Amino acid sequence: MDTASSTPRSPLHIQHVTVVGCGTMGNGIAQVFATCGFAVELVDLSAPALEKAMSTIARNLDRVVAKGGLDHESRDAALARIHCGTSLAEATHQADLVVEAATENRQIKLELFRQLDQLSPASCILATNTSSISITDIAGATRRPAQVIGMHFMNPVPVMKLVEIIKGYNTDPVVTATIVELSHRLGKIPVEANDYPGFVANRILMPMINEAIHTLYEGVAGVAEIDTVMKLGMAHPMGPLQLADFIGLDVCLAILRVLHDGFGQAKYAPCPLLVKMVSSGNLGVKTGKGFYAYQAGSKDLLVAPEFR
Ligand code: CAA
Repeated sequence: MDTASSTPRSPLHIQHVTVVGCGTMGNGIAQVFATCGFAVELVDLSAPALEKAMSTIARNLDRVVAKGGLDHESRDAALARIHCGTSLAEATHQADLVVEAATENRQIKLELFRQLDQLSPASCILATNTSSISITDIAGATRRPAQVIGMHFMNPVPVMKLVEIIKGYNTDPVVTATIVELSHRLGKIPVEANDYPGFVANRILMPMINEAIHTLYEGVAGVAEIDTVMKLGMAHPMGPLQLADFIGLDVCLAILRVLHDGFGQAKYAPCPLLVKMVSSGNLGVKTGKGFYAYQAGSKDLLVAPEFR
């Protein structure tokens, strides 16, 4: 086999971690690795986005310090461990592990993995934080499919304990064991899953969110009522509509389309209301409006005017 692969490092030897993409997930992943002592290269196409990501990380670390979870020196040391840049080649040349957290788009990820395979050392493990795109498919863009794996963090990354570890069809069990061990070192709880549409998390979560949107669309109940039922009745920390806004309605739609295409069953078809909201650019927290209207700096949860 023509392959660039060589033996992956043991988790104890993983020191240099490259995080690709500095959005909500990427900056959270960088924060967690840096807090746990890893040297992090955070890379993105946009320099202003990197600046914004660093101030988000600094603010989130300040929250942890304020709550007594970290001292000032450890906070400063964690920040100093993160180096930002816009060159993929520079960011990956000595990586032991790459965690890709770019846009949830199949073509973008395939092209990125083709480049990551060319640029990173042969022993480097290539992980993706994709929420639903096939790991086997992504691995197929590289010459090292045995070293490609899903490392699916949950939002907000510094808070949520779970990491869903998705094994592609060709993922080497040694690589899986390495990433499981590494997740423990990050203070997370890894759960292994096989590579089928939506894996475990989104195969179960997205139909619930879609059903909540149908419940609203059909006029069974309003936004606040649907969320209150699930918060108070099922002890969910957020109702499904607020959670959809938090994840991003465009991301929810993209994941539902992967489920619908992958299983070919009508039950996964995205609700027309979700499709319309995404077309209108109302994507949730990140655009300031989804099922709720958001104001910077305010924690008040106001139902968006069109649903009042
Ligand atoms: N960095 C560090 N700490 C953070 C943080 C961040 N980015 N965001 C929140 N926190 C901390 C807060 O400081 C606070 O800490 P203490 O408990 O020590 O006080 C704690 O988290 C709770 O935060 P808040 O008090 O601000 O707010 P909250 O109690 O309402 O909790 C929440 C917020 C943790 C987000 C909670 O509402 C929740 O668990 N929501 C559900 C989240 C969820 O389901 N995530 C998964 C989404 S699906 C996904 O990500 C995968 C996918 O593929 C779509």
